[in-house]
Amino acid sequence: MNKLAILASGNGSNAQSIIDYFQQHPAIQVNLIGTNKSDAFVLQRANNANIPAFYFQNNQELVERILLTKPDYIILAGFLKKIPELLIEKYPQHILNIHPSLLPAFGGKGMFGIHVHQAVKNAGVSWSGITIHLVNEEYDKGKIIFQQRMTIHPEWDAEKLQQEILKLEHFYYPRVIEKYIDTIFKENLLLATGDSQFQPD
Ligand code: GRF
Repeated sequence: MNKLAILASGNGSNAQSIIDYFQQHPAIQVNLIGTNKSDAFVLQRANNANIPAFYFQNNQELVERILLTKPDYIILAGFLKKIPELLIEKYPQHILNIHPSLLPAFGGKGMFGIHVHQAVKNAGVSWSGITIHLVNEEYDKGKIIFQQRMTIHPEWDAEKLQQEILKLEHFYYPRVIEKYIDTIFKENLLLATGDSQFQPD
């Protein structure tokens, strides 16, 4: 079973879509939810779904809990803190994030929540989208594994754009996580098979 730890700082609607999608899944299970905000609604969601949840005040508390629980993947879903380097080292290619724009456009510092959609509107572009990427030391700079584009209707304001983008996120994030985990599993299998077939001269 692949175990997921979700980290979120707020509402957690993406966390919810992931919880729902994997509820009866044969190979993937959400078994931990963490937040850096004591009043984050995601805690309520975890409680409703009977998933262990924790609030942490600093990196050390976060790292300790993750190392104790040993999830296979760390899923960031509206998590507004930087991931401690120790976790990035311990979880290479195993930390995923979602960003509500087509990175590298409208990414980086200060680009979170409504600010992203406001910047998109201000730029006057006619499309936006979502990006799912691996997490490294730099904000929004890890390898992109998935993007989906969406046309912006001219009458949409930033709030409406945010709502429409969230719908895309809720649909795609769990499915991309599933696909990604399956791909990693098959790659490992291939490597293992490749090894066993290796015949030295
Ligand atoms: C989403 O737009 C996500 O892309 C971004 O933060 C937002 C979180 O929303 N990283 P929610 O807490 O999942 O509702």
